[in-house]
Amino acid sequence: MTHAPILAPSLLAGDHANLSSSVATVAELGLNWLHIDIMDGHFVPNLTFGPETLTALRRRGSKLFFDTHLMLSEPHRYVEAFARAGADLISVHIEPTYDHVGTLARIRSLGSQAGIVLNPDTPASAVESLLASVDLVLVMTVQPGFGGQPFRSDMLPKLAQLAAWRKERNLSFRLEVDGGVDLSTARECRAAGADTFVAGTSFFKATDKPAFAAEFAQL
Ligand code: DX5
Ligand code: ZN
Repeated sequence: MTHAPILAPSLLAGDHANLSSSVATVAELGLNWLHIDIMDGHFVPNLTFGPETLTALRRRGSKLFFDTHLMLSEPHRYVEAFARAGADLISVHIEPTYDHVGTLARIRSLGSQAGIVLNPDTPASAVESLLASVDLVLVMTVQPGFGGQPFRSDMLPKLAQLAAWRKERNLSFRLEVDGGVDLSTARECRAAGADTFVAGTSFFKATDKPAFAAEFAQL
């Protein structure tokens, strides 16, 4: 099945001294999703937000769909805190060693959607057995940790493989891309089967954001 395209601006590229203003920018455009990157300084060499950030944004009234990307060595220890803080979708990486199946099931039992994430060096086959157990597969198109890196077009065959399995098996998970996504690279990803587009730098740097959002809606 083909999902309508979704643009998920990444809070990482917003104003860290005024996150509410960045969230308002997204909501005022009529967009529904907000991508929130959570880093632990261990799985990736950077630090960002925690559950309290989500709680505070909810307290300020945000109704956006919180697409929460956990870049953590031990994500299973934190899924409950993020679900309770208001994460609508919690995505965990396949690379660290923990109970992936149990953690994805736990995320759903907490009332959130569950996603699985692959780093650039991780082949599609690493998540093949989990595809029926997830709401979203996130293909990293940069090495995670920092915004503003160039898009890796060598990830396109991985997207195409995942999209092919989705079709063959009559599954409906969303296929998301994250890293170096702008209008041009998003078009390549869309052609390969992606339907959900994280945009940090390209979104927050866009001078005409309504036009930017409208172009994504047409993908
Ligand atoms: C990187 C994060 C991304 C980041 C993307 O580790 O997972 O979500 O915000 O930033 P851009 O769009 O600038 O590549
Ligand atoms: Zn991300």
